[in-house]
Amino acid sequence: MVARIPTVSFQGVDTKPIDVEVQISGGVVAFNIVGLPDKAVAESKERVRGALHALGLSLPAKRLTVNLAPADTPKEGSHYDLPIALGLLCAMDVLPKDEMAHYVTLGELSLSAHLRKVNGILPAAMFASEQNLGLICPEECGAEACWAGDIDVLAPKDLLQLINHIKGTQVLSRPTAPKAGITIDRHPDLADVKGQETAKRALEITAAGGHNLLMSGPPGSGKSMMAACLPSILPELSPREALDVSMIHSLAGTLPEGGLVRKRPYRDPHHSASLPALVGGGAKPKPGEISLAHKGVLFLDELPEFDRRTLEALRQPLETGHALIARANQHVTYPADFQLIAAMNPCRCGHLGDSDLECTRAPKCAGEYQSKISGPMLDRIDLHVDVPPVSVIELSSLPSGESSANVKMRVEQARAIQKQRFNNLNIMLDTNAQANGEDLEKIAPLEPAALDILNQAAERLKLSARGYHRIIRVARTIADLEGGADILQKKHIAEALSYRRPRLL
Ligand SMILES: Nc1ncnc2c1ncn2[C@@H]1O[C@H](COP(=O)(O)OP(=O)(O)O)[C@@H](O)[C@H]1O
Ligand SMILES: [Mg+2]
Repeated sequence: MVARIPTVSFQGVDTKPIDVEVQISGGVVAFNIVGLPDKAVAESKERVRGALHALGLSLPAKRLTVNLAPADTPKEGSHYDLPIALGLLCAMDVLPKDEMAHYVTLGELSLSAHLRKVNGILPAAMFASEQNLGLICPEECGAEACWAGDIDVLAPKDLLQLINHIKGTQVLSRPTAPKAGITIDRHPDLADVKGQETAKRALEITAAGGHNLLMSGPPGSGKSMMAACLPSILPELSPREALDVSMIHSLAGTLPEGGLVRKRPYRDPHHSASLPALVGGGAKPKPGEISLAHKGVLFLDELPEFDRRTLEALRQPLETGHALIARANQHVTYPADFQLIAAMNPCRCGHLGDSDLECTRAPKCAGEYQSKISGPMLDRIDLHVDVPPVSVIELSSLPSGESSANVKMRVEQARAIQKQRFNNLNIMLDTNAQANGEDLEKIAPLEPAALDILNQAAERLKLSARGYHRIIRVARTIADLEGGADILQKKHIAEALSYRRPRLL
């Protein structure tokens, strides 16, 4: 008879059901795993054999066949060890066959039959909950599994504990989700940033409307510091968002110990990051930095230093909110709805325009440096600000600015106004940054004087249609920060125009 153990495979954040079928039959002695296993899965038989040996069990000298069904889905990862071991134990009549069909099982085995942590427990537990099944996972992952709701979770530390529980000689208690601990906020507060009022205002607009922002200025002017402040003024994650973000981090193995991601992610990959590290994929499909930044902030410091191809690969996710990874035999998508904050020096030495400090090649070198970022990439950034240097005197004499907590209140109000407006108009969006030209016509009518200055500016600056919409989008958010007047006024457009993309050298 065939033993069947349910488990899962992951395609992006989607979870697909997989059945591990095990049959012991007569014939030539062999142990085969079929059903498109990758290397880690194929090697699983050695770990399973070792683990059973550690328990004093040896595999029967017969023909053992493990089939991972459906056979045409590629199986990757080491979490198939445990279902394969359980399947064998059922086929050997050590465990009852019908009992195991009520659980989705995942776990990696060590040669001493200890269960090792695996990635993707949260999505697997969510899947189990949808199917009205329980979940068997390693002890270390038990707390993570509990976030999926009221499901039956077995989290043994080794195979023996699990066998004893199933046979009724030892009872495993359900692991408990740890209480939300106090997380130490390592983000700096806006109050610590002296001066830089324009940049701080742009940061507030960015947070309020979910826009992308590029800061340009000499080294040491506080660009990185201000970017790090952004999470402290963004609204909290909703419970649904927290779960979505946690699923991605669960797959990447970056979930905080037993917990959910409760703070908006802030990812700041180094400029030497490779394309797979940033966008996802590589030999093993894994979410990249842009997916780990889902519903949070992706900060790219020293933007022109990033590899050109890597930057171009961000264009599509910036537009769609998804990272699409093409692989030889399948496409995988990960959610990647992030806010891009970028910082750059105006030229390689960083002191363009400062006659005392700039190098002898200025301004020619600046043109070369800035042209490393393509026009279409810059087009996707709604706000551009210059961040001038702050003098030492200003640093010591200027008073502390407004605290992040205050700014966050305004941001939350502005977001609530946007949500309400989108609801009223039946538009399925959350923030102004997501609005396209058609949406903008509905959500952002202009008073005649505002239309006049926008049209004049468009003529003078030769704005593209995209540039034109960008100004209206930012103006909409500016008005929302002021209370959300329905019709955009001249002052809103005027301020939005000040954050337009500067003409490159
Ligand atoms: N406006 C400012 N107010 C307070 N401190 C500042 C300011 N600008 C820079 N600093 C200090 O200088 C350090 C370096 O700034 P940083 O943000 O790394 O500059 P940049 O990224 O523009 O090169 C910061 O950690 C902070 O201590
Ligand atoms: Mg910096």
